[in-house]
Amino acid sequence: MIDLHAHILPGLDDGAPDLGEALSMAWLAVEDGIEFLVATPHVMEGEYSTDREAILSAVEQLNSHLDKYQIPLKILPGAEYRLEPDLPERLARGELVTLNDGGRYLLVELPPAFVPPYMERVLYELQLQGVTPIIAHPERNASFCRHPDLLQVLVCRGVPAQVTAGSLTGMFGREAARMAIYFLEHGLAHFVASDAHSSTGRTPVLSPALAEVKRRLGADAAWKLKDNSRRVLEGRNIAIEAVGKVPTGRRGSLRAFLEKFVSKRRGG
Ligand SMILES: [Fe+2]
Repeated sequence: MIDLHAHILPGLDDGAPDLGEALSMAWLAVEDGIEFLVATPHVMEGEYSTDREAILSAVEQLNSHLDKYQIPLKILPGAEYRLEPDLPERLARGELVTLNDGGRYLLVELPPAFVPPYMERVLYELQLQGVTPIIAHPERNASFCRHPDLLQVLVCRGVPAQVTAGSLTGMFGREAARMAIYFLEHGLAHFVASDAHSSTGRTPVLSPALAEVKRRLGADAAWKLKDNSRRVLEGRNIAIEAVGKVPTGRRGSLRAFLEKFVSKRRGG
């Protein structure tokens, strides 16, 4: 299996604080059947300013330790970028690390409580450079949970999303669990990744979450999630299918959201 999102590089963010913890996380990943794990340290202004060179060098060092201790796991480079207004310019300057450094997919996280007003522009400008942004854990963003239509608009424009394995197993509460399944069911999420931060708590483990997807949505849905992760590593396209069902009810209608969106754009 492939895990596209883990904070395993020692000392770069709020994930593994040291090499010992990174190796413990690696063992857990191997025991779960993970062969490739993309290291995605947080990069956000004012908190984590890790640059491209530091990430690539930390990946190389961790891989050499894994070889030394004969742990059969390959760490691949990546990062989790906070959606910031200058992300497209930084990409154009070659400062970012895409997933597996393949130049195709970029992991992007939003603030937990809201959707920034520049989100649409930034995502579009990344796409103009041939990079597909992947929205990390929408089930933990209050705006997407209240208005799934907002995520649907992005998906319809070719921006996929990744739910966190722990959300599916109840680690982040009932609402996150419900929304993770809801997004998967409606074609609004395309990957499951661990977003691991340690060897206890948020661990690099995918099997229980995939078993839950299989139980709730069927074996094909679970298989597709695994296949999508492999496609990302190989720099191939993933199928972002048109969403058949429009979420309605207390979350609001797509029409209402689109009207608001269009009038905002017209108003500037
Ligand atoms: Fe993360």
